[in-house]
Amino acid sequence: MAVLYFAILAISASWLVEGNVKRELTSLKWSNCNPNRNSPITIQNVAVTPMPVEVPGNIHLTVDAKLNRSISHTSLKLSIKRKALFLDIPIPCLFHVGSCTYDDLCNTVDQMMTEDWAGIMGNIGKQIRTMLSTQQVPDHCPVGPMEVHLNSYTLTLPPVPKILTFFAAGDYHAIATATELTTGEEVVCLDLTLSIKENKTCSGISCIFG
Ligand SMILES: *[C@@H]1O[C@H](CO)[C@@H](O)[C@H](O)[C@H]1NC(C)=O
Ligand SMILES: *[C@@H]1O[C@H](CO)[C@@H](O)[C@H](O)[C@H]1NC(C)=O
Repeated sequence: MAVLYFAILAISASWLVEGNVKRELTSLKWSNCNPNRNSPITIQNVAVTPMPVEVPGNIHLTVDAKLNRSISHTSLKLSIKRKALFLDIPIPCLFHVGSCTYDDLCNTVDQMMTEDWAGIMGNIGKQIRTMLSTQQVPDHCPVGPMEVHLNSYTLTLPPVPKILTFFAAGDYHAIATATELTTGEEVVCLDLTLSIKENKTCSGISCIFG
C-alpha cells in the first residue's frame, strides 16, 4: 500500500554511513504536501524512532492512515536531498535506491524481493511484506478501503553496501508523491525531514557488508 511503501522507501533510500551529522533531528518532521483535498488517502500520523536513525540498526515505525476507497496501480516518486551548509545536494537514483520513481507500487515489493536491489532491498522487501500482512494489506492490488495502524513496528536496516557509499550520514529532506495511474490523482504527498547516523556500536561480521 502506497503510504507504507513510501515511508520505508524514503527512509531506506537514504541510509548512509559516512560523513558528519551537522544538525541532528531528534524526531521525524513530516507534513502533508498534497494539494488534492479529495485524496482517498488520509495520513494522520507518521513517526520513526530512534531519530537520528542509526544504520545498521532497528527503526520503529508508527503510521496511522486511512484509505477510503480501493486503489490499484499507483506510481511513487521520491525526491531526496541532503542538507548542506549552503545548498542541498540532490541524491541520485542508484540501483533503484534514492531519488527514484517506482512505476507501479502494486509490483514494487515483489520486484525488490526478486531483484534484490543494491544487495539489500530483497531483505527489506521481505520485511515490508511481513509488515503489510500484519495490517491485512493484500500482496497484490487492488488495496482498500482500509485503515492502517502500525504501532512502533520494528524494521531492521542492514549495513549500507559499498556501492551506495556515495550517500553519507546527515540530514535529509525527502518528498514522496504517489499518483494513481488510472485517475491521475495525486493520492499522497509527504514532506519528510530526518537525520541518519552511523551506528558506531555495531561491530563484528554482521556490521560489514560484502
Ligand atoms: C475520501 O475522502 C476524501 C476527503 O476526506 C473525500 O473528498 C472523498 O470524496 C472520499 N472518497 C470516498 C470514496 O469516500
Ligand atoms: C547498533 O548496533 C548494535 C550492535 O549490533 C545493536 O545492538 C544496536 O541495537 C544498534 N543500534 C540501534 C539504534 O539499532
